[in-house]
Amino acid sequence: MVGKRDMEPTAPRTGPRHVAIIMDGNGRWAQKRGRPRLFGHHAGARRVREIVSSCPEFGVKYLTIFAFSTENWKRTQTEVAGLMSLFRRYIMKEMQAFVKENVRVRFIGDRPRLDAKLRGLMDEAEEMTVGCTGTNLTIALNYGGRDEVTRATKRLARDVAEGRLHPDDVDEETLPRYLDTCVLPDPDLVIRTSGEARISNFLLWQSAYAEYEFIDTLWPDFTPDIFDGLLRGYGTRDRRFGAVSA
Ligand code: IPE
Ligand code: IPE
Ligand code: MG
Repeated sequence: MVGKRDMEPTAPRTGPRHVAIIMDGNGRWAQKRGRPRLFGHHAGARRVREIVSSCPEFGVKYLTIFAFSTENWKRTQTEVAGLMSLFRRYIMKEMQAFVKENVRVRFIGDRPRLDAKLRGLMDEAEEMTVGCTGTNLTIALNYGGRDEVTRATKRLARDVAEGRLHPDDVDEETLPRYLDTCVLPDPDLVIRTSGEARISNFLLWQSAYAEYEFIDTLWPDFTPDIFDGLLRGYGTRDRRFGAVSA
């Protein structure tokens, strides 16, 4: 079947280079079907592959996805354990595909709280894809913007205390070097699915000038066509960064 995307004329894309997605709505998607929340998380995980694979065609060089927040530990033990096991299985299963599709995988977030097996798989995925030059996929796992800034500040303070950094040299270029995202550009577009219009502690520093799209679709229903529509919409926006348009 020919998709909508295939029928449109191919115009040069002026899309975002870095897209970050708050993948929300898995629980409600499952609930609507009378199934346990984890059923929704599994359906959501399957969507990730399609979206990652569509990035080269859409000109998205960096994709950052929010998989588990520092606040998500508040959920039931069953849901948290199920998610952790899903992450382990997901990484194990997808590693080869990432290499094959030339996807460079990175993780952001506070790792020590994650179990050793999962941390090992995360390290392995990063090492295996270190030479990949296609899409840069960053998975935020046990990630919180405030937690990230706090950890960064702690390291920066240590550098000051130990004489490696002078307080007068701390500027807007300094702090981001201590963030988990230090090698990534700032996101141009942040998408949140499921109808909630909040950012839930995602990429606080980095998204200061990002464009936002809040859409009602639940994450397991998010398709490359919907993604494409949002990317095209981004092309029509006027990003002024505080200045006046030309
Ligand atoms: C997002 O879906 C996935 C995670 C937060 C892990 P939710 O689980 O938050 O789904 P809803 O918001 O309850 O529908
Ligand atoms: C944000 O979704 C976190 C992830 C998508 C991983 P939540 O469902 O946890 O956010 P809140 O609780 O609705 O703000
Ligand atoms: Mg949610």
